[in-house]
Amino acid sequence: ESYKAIPMNLNHIIPLDFNGVHEIPESHEWTISTEHPIVDPVTCDSLPLIDLSDPNALSLIRKACEEWGAFQVINHGIPLNLFEEVELQTRRLFSLPTHQKLTILRSPDSITGYGMPHIQTFFPKLMWSEGFQLIGYPMEYASQLWPQEPDQQTNFCDVMEKYQKEMKAFTEKLFEMLLGSLGLTLEDIHWFKPTTDGSNNHQNVLTLNSYPVCPDPNRTMGLAPHTDTSLITVLHQSGSTGLQVLKDGSGWVPVVPVSGALVVNLGDLMEVLTNGLFKSIMHRAVANMTNHRVSVAFFFGPPRDVEIAPLVKLTDEDHPALYCPLTWKEFLQTKAKHFDKALEVLRNKGAK
Ligand code: SIN
Ligand code: FE2
Repeated sequence: ESYKAIPMNLNHIIPLDFNGVHEIPESHEWTISTEHPIVDPVTCDSLPLIDLSDPNALSLIRKACEEWGAFQVINHGIPLNLFEEVELQTRRLFSLPTHQKLTILRSPDSITGYGMPHIQTFFPKLMWSEGFQLIGYPMEYASQLWPQEPDQQTNFCDVMEKYQKEMKAFTEKLFEMLLGSLGLTLEDIHWFKPTTDGSNNHQNVLTLNSYPVCPDPNRTMGLAPHTDTSLITVLHQSGSTGLQVLKDGSGWVPVVPVSGALVVNLGDLMEVLTNGLFKSIMHRAVANMTNHRVSVAFFFGPPRDVEIAPLVKLTDEDHPALYCPLTWKEFLQTKAKHFDKALEVLRNKGAK
């Protein structure tokens, strides 16, 4: 069956006021597909945890990218107190009264601002979550959220800026390692320009996710199954479980939070770039009954006008390019039409 985009209406943008909701409203009640079981990460394979200082890191990364399309990393070099700070600021934002959060509501044709997850339009039931997306410096949002608290405005902006800067540097390093694991270098990427003085021409998006305490998580969906469209996504999840990744042939594998670790997800554009050698990973998130779960996702994408195509060095007569070249924006348009079939559609079009 294929997903059909539901016409945009405000229900699909404005999150529920979750405070004091003790029963699941019908609008939020999901029948969860039992096609794939939830597996026990203790007895089954769990998502690989890679120590970036391990001399074998590159081969472990390659294996994880081929078999899973995701992994967790430690020794990534990002100061751990920054995670505490970004989590604190994220909780401050989502704890504000609804009317306050609605002052920064995302408009239907925009990427940034507060609202429901972008993929909400593909699902008939509403998700048990709310999110805030950001590109660049957030003062225009912070000044609306905390009109009477200039200190809080600058705290929020400074932390988000610091986090984005660290994530930019880290995703670039990670991108180089992913290529290195395939015997390639950044020189093989004609469009790659490293960050200098904190800026570059890559498109990066920061998303703060909030999954309020839920009276019955088994009948709701925090964030419905999807693959990311980016090249690489780096996720900080707070101490509560909730993220699950779909491992072919086994089922939904909970990603157990490891203190100080980051989760790396490969997105659809990485699958295109590596001509399918690396897979983008299907994942979802569930709420829980006791903790307000938050997560912070950083999406690393190519520069705006760059067409992503399978790397020439990864193709030959026996391995022809499987996907036609396209920009991130063009891919988002394909995704908006075909959702989880978007990569298949590109494969059917083949290389130009
Ligand atoms: C995401 O897929 O963007 C977020 C997943 C999570 O909250 O763990
Ligand atoms: Fe995601």
